[in-house]
Amino acid sequence: MRTPLVAGNWKCHLTVPEAVALVQSLRKPLDGLKGVEVVVCPPYTSLSAVKSQLASSSIALGAQDLFWEPHGAFTGEVSGPMLADAGCRFCIIGHSERRRYFGETDEAAHRKLLAALAHGLTAIVCIGETLEEREQGKTFEVLKRQVSAALDGATAQEMARVVVAYEPVWAIGTGRHATPEQAQEAHRFIRERLTALLGTPLASQTVRIQYGGSVTAANALSLLSQPDVDGALVGGASLKADSFVAIVKAAAEAKAIAA
Ligand code: PGA
Repeated sequence: MRTPLVAGNWKCHLTVPEAVALVQSLRKPLDGLKGVEVVVCPPYTSLSAVKSQLASSSIALGAQDLFWEPHGAFTGEVSGPMLADAGCRFCIIGHSERRRYFGETDEAAHRKLLAALAHGLTAIVCIGETLEEREQGKTFEVLKRQVSAALDGATAQEMARVVVAYEPVWAIGTGRHATPEQAQEAHRFIRERLTALLGTPLASQTVRIQYGGSVTAANALSLLSQPDVDGALVGGASLKADSFVAIVKAAAEAKAIAA
Protein backbone atom coordinates (compact mmCIF):
# COMPACT_ATOMS: atom_id res chain seq x y z
CA MET A 1 0.00 0.00 0.00
CA ARG A 2 1.42 3.40 -1.01
CA THR A 3 1.28 6.16 1.61
CA PRO A 4 -0.35 9.19 0.00
CA LEU A 5 1.72 12.37 -0.20
CA VAL A 6 0.05 15.76 -0.01
CA ALA A 7 2.28 18.66 -0.99
CA GLY A 8 1.46 22.35 -0.68
CA ASN A 9 2.95 24.38 -3.51
CA TRP A 10 2.89 27.94 -2.20
CA LYS A 11 4.19 29.27 -5.54
CA CYS A 12 5.16 32.97 -5.54
CA HIS A 13 3.08 33.80 -2.44
CA LEU A 14 3.63 34.79 1.19
CA THR A 15 6.17 36.95 2.97
CA VAL A 16 8.31 35.37 5.68
CA PRO A 17 5.91 36.31 8.53
CA GLU A 18 2.95 35.04 6.48
CA ALA A 19 4.72 31.77 5.72
CA VAL A 20 5.60 31.31 9.40
CA ALA A 21 2.00 31.97 10.43
CA LEU A 22 0.69 29.45 7.92
CA VAL A 23 3.07 26.68 8.93
CA GLN A 24 2.33 27.34 12.61
CA SER A 25 -1.36 26.81 11.98
CA LEU A 26 -0.64 23.53 10.14
CA ARG A 27 1.40 21.90 12.89
CA LYS A 28 -1.29 21.19 15.44
CA PRO A 29 -3.84 19.56 13.12
CA LEU A 30 -1.28 17.72 10.96
CA ASP A 31 1.65 16.73 13.16
CA GLY A 32 1.76 13.00 13.58
CA LEU A 33 -1.34 12.37 11.47
CA LYS A 34 -1.24 8.72 10.42
CA GLY A 35 -1.57 7.30 6.92
CA VAL A 36 -0.41 10.35 4.99
CA GLU A 37 2.82 12.24 4.37
CA VAL A 38 2.78 16.04 4.19
CA VAL A 39 5.22 18.51 2.64
CA VAL A 40 5.11 22.28 2.24
CA CYS A 41 7.00 24.05 -0.53
CA PRO A 42 7.44 27.74 0.28
CA PRO A 43 9.33 30.21 -1.90
CA TYR A 44 13.12 30.19 -1.37
CA THR A 45 12.98 33.29 0.83
CA SER A 46 10.88 31.50 3.46
CA LEU A 47 12.62 28.10 3.47
CA SER A 48 14.83 28.83 6.45
CA ALA A 49 12.09 30.39 8.60
CA VAL A 50 9.63 27.60 7.78
CA LYS A 51 12.31 24.98 8.50
CA SER A 52 12.79 26.47 11.98
CA GLN A 53 9.06 26.13 12.61
CA LEU A 54 9.15 22.49 11.56
CA ALA A 55 11.60 21.28 14.23
CA SER A 56 10.46 17.80 15.35
CA SER A 57 7.44 18.00 13.05
CA SER A 58 6.28 15.23 10.74
CA ILE A 59 5.67 17.87 8.05
CA ALA A 60 8.55 17.95 5.57
CA LEU A 61 10.05 20.88 3.71
CA GLY A 62 10.30 21.11 -0.07
CA ALA A 63 11.41 23.61 -2.71
CA GLN A 64 9.59 24.56 -5.89
CA ASP A 65 12.52 24.20 -8.29
CA LEU A 66 16.27 23.74 -8.39
CA PHE A 67 19.13 24.27 -10.81
CA TRP A 68 21.02 21.24 -12.07
CA GLU A 69 24.58 22.47 -11.46
CA PRO A 70 25.73 22.27 -7.83
CA HIS A 71 27.37 25.73 -7.88
CA GLY A 72 28.89 28.26 -10.23
CA ALA A 73 28.25 31.50 -12.06
CA PHE A 74 24.50 31.05 -12.59
CA THR A 75 22.95 34.26 -11.34
CA GLY A 76 19.58 33.79 -9.74
CA GLU A 77 19.71 30.01 -9.50
CA VAL A 78 19.54 27.80 -6.40
CA SER A 79 21.13 24.35 -6.44
CA GLY A 80 20.42 20.91 -5.00
CA PRO A 81 23.13 21.03 -2.29
CA MET A 82 21.85 24.45 -1.21
CA LEU A 83 18.32 23.10 -0.85
CA ALA A 84 19.50 20.06 1.08
CA ASP A 85 21.51 22.39 3.32
CA ALA A 86 18.39 24.53 3.88
CA GLY A 87 16.58 21.45 5.18
CA CYS A 88 14.59 20.48 2.10
CA ARG A 89 13.73 16.83 1.58
CA PHE A 90 11.61 17.38 -1.52
CA CYS A 91 11.81 19.44 -4.68
CA ILE A 92 9.14 20.06 -7.31
CA ILE A 93 10.50 19.64 -10.83
CA GLY A 94 9.11 20.56 -14.24
CA HIS A 95 5.99 22.34 -12.99
CA SER A 96 3.88 23.50 -15.92
CA GLU A 97 4.35 27.12 -14.84
CA ARG A 98 8.12 26.66 -15.18
CA ARG A 99 7.56 25.12 -18.60
CA ARG A 100 5.13 27.80 -19.72
CA TYR A 101 6.63 31.03 -18.34
CA PHE A 102 10.31 30.12 -18.16
CA GLY A 103 10.70 27.93 -21.20
CA GLU A 104 11.64 24.76 -19.34
CA THR A 105 11.91 21.70 -21.52
CA ASP A 106 11.64 17.96 -20.90
CA GLU A 107 15.44 17.91 -21.10
CA ALA A 108 15.70 20.52 -18.32
CA ALA A 109 13.30 18.50 -16.16
CA HIS A 110 15.52 15.46 -16.68
CA ARG A 111 18.69 17.30 -15.68
CA LYS A 112 16.94 18.68 -12.62
CA LEU A 113 15.72 15.22 -11.66
CA LEU A 114 19.26 13.85 -11.78
CA ALA A 115 20.49 16.77 -9.68
CA ALA A 116 17.74 16.27 -7.09
CA LEU A 117 18.55 12.56 -6.79
CA ALA A 118 22.29 13.24 -6.60
CA HIS A 119 21.79 15.55 -3.64
CA GLY A 120 19.47 13.34 -1.64
CA LEU A 121 16.21 15.09 -2.45
CA THR A 122 12.95 13.40 -3.39
CA ALA A 123 11.76 14.78 -6.71
CA ILE A 124 8.12 15.60 -7.40
CA VAL A 125 8.12 15.45 -11.18
CA CYS A 126 5.19 17.30 -12.78
CA ILE A 127 3.65 16.26 -16.06
CA GLY A 128 0.35 17.02 -17.75
CA GLU A 129 -1.32 17.96 -20.99
CA THR A 130 -2.69 21.35 -22.05
CA LEU A 131 -6.36 21.82 -22.94
CA GLU A 132 -5.46 21.96 -26.62
CA GLU A 133 -3.57 18.69 -26.38
CA ARG A 134 -6.49 17.04 -24.58
CA GLU A 135 -8.98 18.29 -27.16
CA GLN A 136 -6.78 16.98 -29.94
CA GLY A 137 -6.72 13.55 -28.30
CA LYS A 138 -3.01 13.81 -27.53
CA THR A 139 -3.15 13.40 -23.75
CA PHE A 140 -1.53 9.98 -23.58
CA GLU A 141 1.06 10.86 -26.20
CA VAL A 142 2.10 13.92 -24.17
CA LEU A 143 2.17 12.03 -20.88
CA LYS A 144 4.22 9.25 -22.44
CA ARG A 145 6.76 11.74 -23.82
CA GLN A 146 7.04 13.70 -20.57
CA VAL A 147 7.39 10.61 -18.35
CA SER A 148 9.98 9.01 -20.62
CA ALA A 149 12.01 12.20 -21.03
CA ALA A 150 12.04 13.21 -17.37
CA LEU A 151 12.69 9.77 -15.95
CA ASP A 152 14.99 8.45 -18.67
CA GLY A 153 17.49 5.99 -17.19
CA ALA A 154 16.15 6.18 -13.63
CA THR A 155 16.55 2.85 -11.86
CA ALA A 156 13.92 1.13 -9.74
CA GLN A 157 16.06 2.01 -6.72
CA GLU A 158 16.19 5.70 -7.66
CA MET A 159 12.42 5.70 -8.21
CA ALA A 160 12.05 5.28 -4.45
CA ARG A 161 12.88 9.00 -4.34
CA VAL A 162 10.64 10.03 -7.22
CA VAL A 163 7.01 11.08 -7.01
CA VAL A 164 5.11 11.83 -10.21
CA ALA A 165 2.50 14.59 -10.14
CA TYR A 166 -0.14 14.43 -12.86
CA GLU A 167 -1.28 18.00 -13.32
CA PRO A 168 -3.44 18.66 -16.36
CA VAL A 169 -2.47 22.21 -17.29
CA TRP A 170 -6.09 23.17 -17.91
CA ALA A 171 -6.94 22.32 -14.30
CA ILE A 172 -4.20 24.35 -12.61
CA GLY A 173 -5.52 27.44 -10.88
CA THR A 174 -8.66 27.40 -13.02
CA GLY A 175 -11.17 25.95 -10.59
CA ARG A 176 -11.80 23.25 -13.18
CA HIS A 177 -10.45 19.98 -11.82
CA ALA A 178 -10.23 16.68 -13.66
CA THR A 179 -13.09 14.31 -12.89
CA PRO A 180 -12.09 11.36 -10.71
CA GLU A 181 -12.47 9.14 -13.80
CA GLN A 182 -10.20 11.37 -15.91
CA ALA A 183 -7.62 11.42 -13.14
CA GLN A 184 -7.72 7.64 -12.65
CA GLU A 185 -7.42 7.03 -16.39
CA ALA A 186 -4.33 9.23 -16.64
CA HIS A 187 -2.78 7.83 -13.48
CA ARG A 188 -3.26 4.26 -14.63
CA PHE A 189 -1.65 5.14 -17.94
CA ILE A 190 1.30 6.77 -16.17
CA ARG A 191 1.78 3.70 -13.97
CA GLU A 192 1.79 1.49 -17.08
CA ARG A 193 4.48 3.72 -18.59
CA LEU A 194 6.51 3.44 -15.38
CA THR A 195 6.22 -0.33 -15.59
CA ALA A 196 7.52 -0.22 -19.16
CA LEU A 197 10.39 2.11 -18.20
CA LEU A 198 11.42 0.19 -15.12
CA GLY A 199 10.82 -3.21 -16.62
CA THR A 200 8.92 -4.50 -13.59
CA PRO A 201 5.40 -3.87 -12.26
CA LEU A 202 6.76 -4.39 -8.75
CA ALA A 203 8.74 -1.15 -8.98
CA SER A 204 5.97 0.91 -10.56
CA GLN A 205 3.49 -0.26 -7.92
CA THR A 206 5.48 1.53 -5.24
CA VAL A 207 5.81 4.89 -7.05
CA ARG A 208 3.41 7.53 -5.81
CA ILE A 209 1.45 9.46 -8.43
CA GLN A 210 -0.15 12.63 -7.10
CA TYR A 211 -2.99 14.50 -8.75
CA GLY A 212 -2.77 18.29 -9.02
CA GLY A 213 -5.04 20.94 -10.49
CA SER A 214 -7.74 22.81 -8.54
CA VAL A 215 -7.80 20.32 -5.67
CA THR A 216 -10.03 21.68 -2.90
CA ALA A 217 -11.47 20.46 0.39
CA ALA A 218 -14.69 19.75 -1.52
CA ASN A 219 -13.30 17.56 -4.32
CA ALA A 220 -10.30 15.96 -2.56
CA LEU A 221 -11.99 12.82 -1.26
CA SER A 222 -13.47 11.78 -4.61
CA LEU A 223 -10.18 12.38 -6.46
CA LEU A 224 -7.95 10.82 -3.82
CA SER A 225 -10.13 7.71 -3.52
CA GLN A 226 -9.14 6.60 -7.01
CA PRO A 227 -6.93 3.51 -6.88
CA ASP A 228 -3.95 5.02 -8.69
CA VAL A 229 -4.14 8.48 -7.10
CA ASP A 230 -1.66 8.72 -4.23
CA GLY A 231 -2.20 12.16 -2.79
CA ALA A 232 -2.24 15.66 -4.20
CA LEU A 233 -0.08 18.58 -5.25
CA VAL A 234 -2.07 21.56 -4.04
CA GLY A 235 -1.60 25.18 -5.11
CA GLY A 236 -4.29 27.72 -4.20
CA ALA A 237 -5.94 25.64 -1.48
CA SER A 238 -2.59 25.13 0.28
CA LEU A 239 -2.39 28.83 1.16
CA LYS A 240 -5.18 28.53 3.72
CA ALA A 241 -4.67 26.24 6.70
CA ASP A 242 -8.31 25.10 6.83
CA SER A 243 -8.50 23.90 3.24
CA PHE A 244 -5.04 22.32 3.23
CA VAL A 245 -5.73 20.45 6.48
CA ALA A 246 -9.04 19.20 5.06
CA ILE A 247 -7.29 17.91 1.91
CA VAL A 248 -4.60 16.13 3.94
CA LYS A 249 -7.28 14.49 6.08
CA ALA A 250 -9.20 13.48 2.96
CA ALA A 251 -6.07 11.79 1.62
CA ALA A 252 -5.67 9.76 4.82
CA GLU A 253 -9.37 8.92 4.85
CA ALA A 254 -9.42 7.88 1.19
CA LYS A 255 -6.68 5.31 1.75
CA ALA A 256 -8.23 4.11 5.02
CA ILE A 257 -11.48 3.41 3.14
CA ALA A 258 -9.57 1.55 0.42
CA ALA A 259 -7.66 -0.60 2.92
P1 PGA B 1 -3.87 24.73 -8.03
O1 PGA B 1 -2.32 24.50 -8.41
O2 PGA B 1 -4.16 23.78 -6.88
O3 PGA B 1 -3.96 26.16 -7.61
O4 PGA B 1 -4.67 24.42 -9.23
C1 PGA B 1 -1.76 23.22 -8.42
C2 PGA B 1 -0.32 23.30 -8.82
O5 PGA B 1 0.02 24.14 -9.66
O6 PGA B 1 0.51 22.52 -8.34
